Amino acid sequence: MKFCVFDAYGTLFDVNAPARKLTKEKSIKDFSKVWSIVSAQWREKQLSYTWLMNSMKEYKDFWSITEDALDYALELTNFNKTPELKDKLLKFYRELDCFPEVPKVLRELKGLGIGTAILSNGTKKMINSAVMASDIGNQIDAIFSVEDVFVFKPDPRVYNMVTDKLSLKKSEILLISSNCWDISGAANFGFNTFWVNRNQLPVDRLPAKPHFVGKDLFSVRVHLDKQFRH
Ligand code: LAC
Repeated sequence: MKFCVFDAYGTLFDVNAPARKLTKEKSIKDFSKVWSIVSAQWREKQLSYTWLMNSMKEYKDFWSITEDALDYALELTNFNKTPELKDKLLKFYRELDCFPEVPKVLRELKGLGIGTAILSNGTKKMINSAVMASDIGNQIDAIFSVEDVFVFKPDPRVYNMVTDKLSLKKSEILLISSNCWDISGAANFGFNTFWVNRNQLPVDRLPAKPHFVGKDLFSVRVHLDKQFRH
């Protein structure tokens, strides 16, 4: 195992942070009552649009899809008449917060001599902006975006970019994601996988199951430590 490849959204970066942050702005009346619905719908539509695009053999960059999904979520909750609300949510999404343990764990992995990369549906611009906002750029060796293959996860061409560009064998990669369907795609492709089950969800009933499971990135660190000791 030579390289840890991380999913971005939901794994390193907290996709619920933008809507949660906006509840602190008292000027936007009643948003705190619906923020969790907005956030969940935003994410659900964002992901399902990528899967639907794949099956229609269409492609639109992930930033546009993120905006479209937000439009849907805001209309659903009757918050579509407030353009500044959409602008603020998108601004927070651009500068997304990482989960608290992320910087420390990435530093420790680098200390173990393990390579680190991000593999994401996000555009390079989006990923770079989130990486900069969390100040984790020094701990990331490579960034891979589906932008280069014009198709979204879990299409095998996405996972293939990693082995191709890093010239590594599938067995040398550990793909780490909080999205169980992403794990299934990666395991089906032939990667070792670690499912970061942040929300204690049941495992998805899809072709390939995760090889390892933990609740946050600290559990990834513990797992790798054990591997290195043997
Ligand atoms: C990503 C989405 C799947 O970062 O979270 O690719």
